[in-house]
Amino acid sequence: MKIKVVSQNPERAEELARHVRASGPGLDVQAAASTLAGLPAVINGSKPGLLVLDEVDAAGLDALARMAQAYPEVDAIVISSEQSPAFLLRAMQAGVREVLPPPVTGPALQAAVQRLLRKRGPGVGAAKNGDVFAFMSCKGGSGASCLAANFAHMLSTRDGRTAALIDLDLQFGDALVTLSNHRATSNVAELAHSINRLDADLLRASMVSISDTLAVLPAPEELSQALEVKAQHVEAIIKQAREMFDFVVLDVGRSIDAVSLQGLDMARVIFPVLQLSLPQLRDAKRLRMLFRSLDYPTHKIHWVVNRYQKATDFTLDAVEQALGAKSVTTVPNHFASVSAAVNQGVPIEQIARNGPVTKALRDLAQAVAPADAGHKGSWFASMFGNG
Ligand SMILES: Nc1ncnc2c1ncn2[C@@H]1O[C@H](COP(=O)(O)OP(=O)(O)O)[C@@H](O)[C@H]1O
Ligand SMILES: [Mg+2]
Repeated sequence: MKIKVVSQNPERAEELARHVRASGPGLDVQAAASTLAGLPAVINGSKPGLLVLDEVDAAGLDALARMAQAYPEVDAIVISSEQSPAFLLRAMQAGVREVLPPPVTGPALQAAVQRLLRKRGPGVGAAKNGDVFAFMSCKGGSGASCLAANFAHMLSTRDGRTAALIDLDLQFGDALVTLSNHRATSNVAELAHSINRLDADLLRASMVSISDTLAVLPAPEELSQALEVKAQHVEAIIKQAREMFDFVVLDVGRSIDAVSLQGLDMARVIFPVLQLSLPQLRDAKRLRMLFRSLDYPTHKIHWVVNRYQKATDFTLDAVEQALGAKSVTTVPNHFASVSAAVNQGVPIEQIARNGPVTKALRDLAQAVAPADAGHKGSWFASMFGNG
């Protein structure tokens, strides 16, 4: 996020900017020496997400209120010795998030910035190094989309860590509708069009926020748009997402092309999803050969048998043998919870908190990305400058 720190005194502006920069990696913090009357010129064109303003008095608040009308999306933290209820109310009306009394210490300013980053939701603030997972369907209807979306949701509801779900099934993607009935604001193809402008703000604006910790980048609405997306676009989008989210989950669908291979290459773990039937097993074997020819190590491939029920013609041992896998993960067949979730467009966990599919996904998440018991604690520690 872009942050502008404004003080009339240039050295003071620099000093405050240094404190703000220490609030977390990945912040683009600039200092500007200006009066508050000069704010429009300071902001002009630079589109900061946050202003940190030094020595704000009543007249300064008026200037800020005028600016807030023109740029409602800009938040402000102000430093002011005025703390009267009337001043604080006026500040609130001008869109100020926090009024800090001087002298402002580094930790106090950092805590205020971090509170605001948290409020802004997923993908804001610290540059992360997100873990990438890819779900792939061995045959259409295996359940890859369903599992990808709900796996991403599961990762986002455990310990405050954030997840992005990116729909790379460009022609038939349904990741967004699997989780919500929010409308898409943009999609992978539109983002590919503006790839030269891609940054955290653009990616965030292109995604649909499902919750504070989960956001979805949908597939294009039109088939023709899908053809315009190239591997290098996907590479840039995943890279950007990794900086913003703790986890990046890809639904790569079932076609093998430059776009899906880009996603598979960048994943730490690939989950090919199959059901126990001869045609599905046959396609799974084909995928296995592909993964081999791509030199993917076996530990990168994590086979998932979906809609598993014991009484079938195939045993899991036979599947493991056919796929050369030490073990496969099973997700049970549970029509009631899955179809209710799919039809209502909500995560399965919301329909059946302890249902068999929810449990299987929770175990899978725990196996490949253990919940971080200290995560919330370490955030508080870093907030107070000792973490
Ligand atoms: N574990 C499950 N139990 C019952 N039904 C499931 C399960 N997983 C998926 N389904 C059903 O299968 C349908 C197809 O799944 P989907 O995720 O769209 O497959 P794919 O993306 O591999 O083509 C879903 O709409 C859902 O109703
Ligand atoms: Mg699908």
